[in-house]
This record gives sequence, structure tokens and C-alpha cells, in this order.
Amino acid sequence: MSASVLFVCLGNICRSPLAEAALRAEAERAGLSVTVDSAGTGDWHVGSPPDRRAQAVALRHGIDISCYRGRQVTAGDFRRFDHVFALDSENLRNLRRIRPSDGTAELRLLMDLVPGREGSGVTDPYFGDDAGFDVTWDDVTRAAQAIVERLLEQE
Ligand code: 4NP
Repeated sequence: MSASVLFVCLGNICRSPLAEAALRAEAERAGLSVTVDSAGTGDWHVGSPPDRRAQAVALRHGIDISCYRGRQVTAGDFRRFDHVFALDSENLRNLRRIRPSDGTAELRLLMDLVPGREGSGVTDPYFGDDAGFDVTWDDVTRAAQAIVERLLEQE
């Protein structure tokens, strides 16, 4: 049975869609079957496509994410997914509040999987310039590679 992974940030239009795209790409490269999705703790961008700067950085890496749509994380996600990764510590705090008592998902800070980056968040690029999205892409790609390694060990 393939593992399922949910990435959660604040708006679900910048960081978590890029994490979703990066994991899809890294898993495909490794021949690993995995169910991947993303969501936001906030509801401002429900139904919206990713930020155009997020779409652009993904496309520069050969991935079209224009079909992704924002959604808000739910308590049920903690029963549906094996792993829920928070993009930063504020997201993690909010997810701990949303998590139901019968939630089975592992909940972790995403960058805890990247050696040397434990405890750190993926910086929110929304209010910054285009270059911030390249930093986001690098961070989520390193994390996606770590997730794939971990899932391959568990297979
Ligand atoms: P994200 O970035 O959490 O990486 O999707 C943000 C997107 C939108 C907002 C904040 C962060 N916002 O305030 O609308």
C-alpha cells in the first residue's frame, strides 16, 4: 500500500503546493508510489490556483501546477493521511490544535527531515520578491528527497 503525505502551510498557494509538486517529482524519479496533497490552515485562498510566482518557479523546473487549487486543512485529514508536514512552526502549532484525538497521521515540521535544518521553517515567500520562491523550491526539494529516502526505507 502506498504512503500518503499532506503538506500544510498558511495559504496553500505558495509553499505547500511547491512541496506537493517537488514530492510528486522526486517520487516519480525514484519509482515510488505515493499519494500527495497540500492544504492551508487559512481559508483565504480556497479554490484559487497557486500564486503566479509559485507556478513560475515550478514551471522553471518542468512542472505545471496551474491545475492545483487551494483548500483548507480539516480534522479528517489526520485520519486520511499517513504523514502531515507543517511548513513552519506556526503552521505546526495550528495543526496541533486542529488534530482530532483519533487522528492517526504523523505530524511533523517538514524541515526536521533535512539534516542541519531541524527546527527551522520554510520561509513564507508571499510578501517577498521572486527570488524568495527559488529559496522555497530548494527547501521543499531537499525535504522531498528526504521524504522519498525515508519512504523507500520503510517499503
Ligand atoms: P503560503 O503563503 O502560506 O506559503 O501559501 C501565503 C499565501 C497567502 C497569504 C499568506 C501566506 N495571505 O496572507 O494571503
